[in-house]
Amino acid sequence: MMKLRHLLAAALLPSFAFAQDAQIDRKVNELLKKMTLEEKVGQLHQLSGRQFTGPESSKFADKLADIRAGKVGSMLNVKGVAETREIQALALQSRLRIPLLFSLDVIHGYKTTFPVPLGEAASWDLEAIEQGARVAAIEAAASGIHWTFAPMVDISRDPRWGRVMEGAGEDTYLGSQIARARVKGFQTSKLGGTDAIMATAKHFAAYGAAIAGRDYNAVDMSEQQLHEVYLPPFKAALDAGAATFMNSFNTLNGIPATGSAHLQRDILKGEWKFKGLVVSDWASIKEMVPHGYAADLADAATRALNAGSDIDMEGYAYTKHLADAVKSGKVQAKLLDDAVRRVLVKKFELGLFDDPYRFSDAAREQAALNDPKHREIARDVARKSMVLLKNDNNALPLAAGAKRIAVIGPLADSKRDLEGGWVVQGERADVVSILEGIRRRAGSATVTHAAACAPGCATMDGLDAAVAAAKDADVVVLAIGETWDMSGEAKSRTDIGVPGQQNKLFEAIKATGKPVVVVMLAGRPLIFNTIADQADAILYAWFPGTEGGNAVADVLFGDYNPSGKLPVTFPRNMGQLPLSYAQYSTGRPVLDEKNIVYKSAYIDSVNTPRYAFGHGLSYTSFRYSGASLSSNTMRPGQSITLSFDIANSGKAAGTETVQLYIRDLVSSVVRPLKELKGFQQVRLQPGEQRRISFTIDRNTLSFFNTQLKWGAEPGDFKLMVGSASDDIRAELPLRLLEK
Ligand code: NOJ
Repeated sequence: MMKLRHLLAAALLPSFAFAQDAQIDRKVNELLKKMTLEEKVGQLHQLSGRQFTGPESSKFADKLADIRAGKVGSMLNVKGVAETREIQALALQSRLRIPLLFSLDVIHGYKTTFPVPLGEAASWDLEAIEQGARVAAIEAAASGIHWTFAPMVDISRDPRWGRVMEGAGEDTYLGSQIARARVKGFQTSKLGGTDAIMATAKHFAAYGAAIAGRDYNAVDMSEQQLHEVYLPPFKAALDAGAATFMNSFNTLNGIPATGSAHLQRDILKGEWKFKGLVVSDWASIKEMVPHGYAADLADAATRALNAGSDIDMEGYAYTKHLADAVKSGKVQAKLLDDAVRRVLVKKFELGLFDDPYRFSDAAREQAALNDPKHREIARDVARKSMVLLKNDNNALPLAAGAKRIAVIGPLADSKRDLEGGWVVQGERADVVSILEGIRRRAGSATVTHAAACAPGCATMDGLDAAVAAAKDADVVVLAIGETWDMSGEAKSRTDIGVPGQQNKLFEAIKATGKPVVVVMLAGRPLIFNTIADQADAILYAWFPGTEGGNAVADVLFGDYNPSGKLPVTFPRNMGQLPLSYAQYSTGRPVLDEKNIVYKSAYIDSVNTPRYAFGHGLSYTSFRYSGASLSSNTMRPGQSITLSFDIANSGKAAGTETVQLYIRDLVSSVVRPLKELKGFQQVRLQPGEQRRISFTIDRNTLSFFNTQLKWGAEPGDFKLMVGSASDDIRAELPLRLLEK
């Protein structure tokens, strides 16, 4: 009986959703009929309101008056129950009482700070990543936030660009999976609950391919690259239900993305049938003027709306000029209505017309921001994000016999640097530093500390004390790297070496002859060849968040066996950039590094990276064997299965991320040497073995062809499985038949 009821409910669900959509449509139509032109434009104006409440509020009297007059549709940078209530109350004084949307950059946590997104991506653990977004949504929603400007799903292959920190790295397949997980985490399966906030797939599109890694710089790429490498994570976010998209600052092939009808009208709202709303990036409509694409602000407003940008974030182009553009016919009234409709639909879906304050609940805020479970989850995600790059002679986990541990370096006792770039409501005092984490776990061992220099290490006045501490210890943990403000927006660097005097610090500590375990913090791949050559172990910890110090200790002491894998290539030198594992062959490939004359090579560097995409060690080892295909030919429409055994051949329980790559050997468009097409995580006890399977179908073998369509071409393929892009354990040939 129960079962039947469930079946009935499931069958009725789509029609219920349909009826609900129809009801919202009807309500939006009624409202649109009542709205003046100015009120419509108001819905498309997004205002930043950092200091609008409190003692300074009188300075913003004109903006507060705009809110009361219904000239503002959404806000960013207003947060907390008290503040959102206060501002919402103003909007409700407007003629039509249309509630505001409150948006915010909740990028890696709200109060509980999680690892930066690139770090989370290194976990390759989709459930953990979804959980991270879920916690952020629960906390933010309880503080009155309806909408986060995340996830950033930009692919980037150039770590000079500071914003690699905010994405999922260089790979389209991995990036698409992570985009989906993050959207689900923020939004749940359906908006409408008071713990679900709207996600934003940003920055549409190709922002991560800025020339020379300089932020906001132009992007120039083929339509194939765009569709094949840069757009799929956006499509994945959309398929997962992303309610909103944000366009981007860059030009793409000469057209600012914000003014690109090709991106927003043809692809996003046309081909992909996106029904949600598109917000501009901060003042990106206005910036079409300095780009040299719009003659003035009025022209920018016309171009942006016509191209499909619905909301103007802090650009003041729409609020000043859109009404005139509609009156003069430069913008059709129906396009304006379409943009306004998209905003209103979201307000209805979130239930704000029923209760404009439903997200701003003081009791819920208290409970959510102090929920101890959130910190446990943050600790779990943080330790999963860490990548063991090197571990010579089993330097890690720290031996039980290590009785004196020196924790050295400018980041050893820093809290701010553990938090990373986007701290929203996190409190510094809550952060556990690496030193604190180690002290808590060290038991009877003596832990000493010497910073040697301040974060950034521009000058070093504590070297002697640091060397003395090292000499006096059994093992050194050296915490170095970037400071929190060296990566992120507008943080492009031409030198991504370890900053300041930190190499010198490493060399001095290494010269003591003591084992040196480096814990590296950063928001991007750094270049550190001497350290890579000489350190005994290197744990790449990114910016790991509130629980960072505990998570580092979990890994160092072996309470957690590291399982992170690089989501991005680590170069050897700046000259190799941009660099990705998904290289193309050339007519002159380097087959042997000793023979590079007239080959596609450098005369002063090898082509290979320092650490490859997918690399990450464990305290145990994994053996791959018995790889086979259910058939080594495949007909169109069929699928086949690739299987292999994986065994834990070491002494500790551990998690391996097995990776599937393909190469299309001959095709009408030259394909990369390797393309990630699948991965799975397997947890195995020592001695345990399991059979793993991947399904290969036409989709796996497809690419974006010269007809600008996805398709797979008959012919030969190579399938590869392994532990990293440069650690392939089995290769199998496959032929796709004509019919
Ligand atoms: C500019 C950034 O590019 C974007 O990612 C962010 O969401 C907005 N500023 C709002 O803070």
